[in-house]
Amino acid sequence: HRTQVCIIGGGPAGLMLSHVLAEFGIDSIVLERQTKDYVLGRIRAGVLEHGTAQMLIEHGLGDRMTRQGKPKDGTLIVWEGQDDFFIDVKKWTGKQMWAWGQTYITEDLYEAREKADAQIICEAKDVALHDITGDASVTYTKDGAQHRIRCDFIAGCDGFHGPSRQAMPREVRREYERVYPFGWLGIMVEKPPLQDFIYAYHSDGMAMAAQRNPMLSRYYVQAPVTDKVEDWSDQRFWDTLLSRFPDSYANQIQTGPSIEKSIAPLRSFVSEPLRWGKLFLAGDAGHIVPPTGAKGLNLAFSDVFYLSRALRTHYEEGSDHYLDCYSEMALRRIWSAENISWRLTKLLHVFPNEDPFDRKIRTNDYQLLLTSEPAQHALAHEYIGLPFED
Ligand code: FAD
Ligand code: DHB
Repeated sequence: HRTQVCIIGGGPAGLMLSHVLAEFGIDSIVLERQTKDYVLGRIRAGVLEHGTAQMLIEHGLGDRMTRQGKPKDGTLIVWEGQDDFFIDVKKWTGKQMWAWGQTYITEDLYEAREKADAQIICEAKDVALHDITGDASVTYTKDGAQHRIRCDFIAGCDGFHGPSRQAMPREVRREYERVYPFGWLGIMVEKPPLQDFIYAYHSDGMAMAAQRNPMLSRYYVQAPVTDKVEDWSDQRFWDTLLSRFPDSYANQIQTGPSIEKSIAPLRSFVSEPLRWGKLFLAGDAGHIVPPTGAKGLNLAFSDVFYLSRALRTHYEEGSDHYLDCYSEMALRRIWSAENISWRLTKLLHVFPNEDPFDRKIRTNDYQLLLTSEPAQHALAHEYIGLPFED
C-alpha cells in the first residue's frame, strides 16, 4: 500500500484531517484501533468555538449543527455567596459558540468519509511507525495479517495514549505537565437541560450543567481522582450536584436515571515539538487540557486547520513554509488554550491542600470579573478561542 498521508487515529482530529485533505485532492488512509461503534459511543466534548463551527460549515459538515445545535452567547458562572457572572463572548467579541456534541460530529465525519469511499481501517492493531526521518511507513495487523503502508507523511492523531508521540525519540521531546488531584464525574440524563452552560463554584467543589439536545442533559461534579464510578450512585450524584448549585438553579435542574456515567481525570500536558521528520502530531496526541473551558476538541480542529493547510501548500505549491512552521504556529494557540484552561480550573475547583489565603485570592479573582470590564473582555477573548494565524 502507498498513500500520501497515513493518519493514525480515527477520532475527531484524524477523521477531520482526512476529510479536509480529500477536498484538497490529497489521498490518505486512516488507521483506527477500535471499532467504529466504540468510537461513536464515546461521550466527550459539547461546546464548539466560533472557529470550529466555521470549519465544519466550510467543509460541508455544518448542516446538522445549524439545524439541531444551539448558538450560545457565552457561559454562566454561579458562585456560592456571590453574584452570577456571564462570560459574554457575544458582547465582547461579536462571536457565538455552539452547543453541539463531539458524538454528532464524529457520526457526520464517518458518514461523509464512507460516502466518499475513504479508506478507514478500523480494528487496526499493533500500529507502529517506521523510518520517520527517511522512507516513512506504518505497519499494523488486522485479522491476523500484517500490513505496511508507505507514505509521504504520517499524521499522529491517536490521542494521549497512542503510539505516535512515543515514536519521537525521547531526546527531541520536551513535555510540560500538570496533573490535578481531582477528576470530573459526568452523567448523561434524558431530561431537558438548563438554558445555559453553567459552571458552579462551591466550597465543596465544582459542579457543571451542560447539554446535548432538548431532551439530553450532561452534568458534572468535581470528585477525588481516586473515586470510582461505582462509588457514585445516581442518588449520590444528584444530591452532590444540587447542593453545589444555588437554590434558584438547583430548583430548575430536572433529575432522572443516568444513561451514562464516567469519570475523567484532569490533566494539562504539552509535548514539544509537534513535528519530527515526516511525523506531525495533531489533537490530544500532542496536548491535553483539563475540560474547564471546553478547549480539547477545539484545539484538535485548529491543529487540523494548520496541518491541512501546510500539506495543501506542500502538494499544490511545492512550498514547505507551513509544514516547517506547523509546530510553532499550532503551539502558540495551544499554549493560550492551556493557559485559560488552567486558570479556569484553578478558579472553579477546590484543591485538597488549599488554605485561607488561596480562597481569598480566588474570591478576589472572581470579584474582579464581576466588576472590571477589561477583565470581562479579556476572559471573553480567550474563552472564544484565538483566531487562526495566516
Ligand atoms: P481522540 O478523540 O482521543 O481520538 C484518538 C483516536 O485514536 C481514538 O479513536 C483512538 O481509539 C485512536 N487510537 C489510539 N491509539 C491508537 C493506536 N495504537 N492505533 C490506532 N488508533 C489509535 N473536551 C472538551 O472540550 N469537553 C469535554 O467535556 C471533554 N470531555 C472529555 C472526556 C474524556 C474522558 C476525554 C478522554 C476527553 C474529553 N475531552 C473533552 C477532550 C476531547 O474529547 C478531546 O480533546 C478530543 O477527543 C480530541 O480528539 P482527538 O481526535 O485528538 O483524540
Ligand atoms: C462541556 C462543556 C463545557 O463548557 C466544559 O467546560 C466541559 C464540558 C460539555 O458540554 O460536556
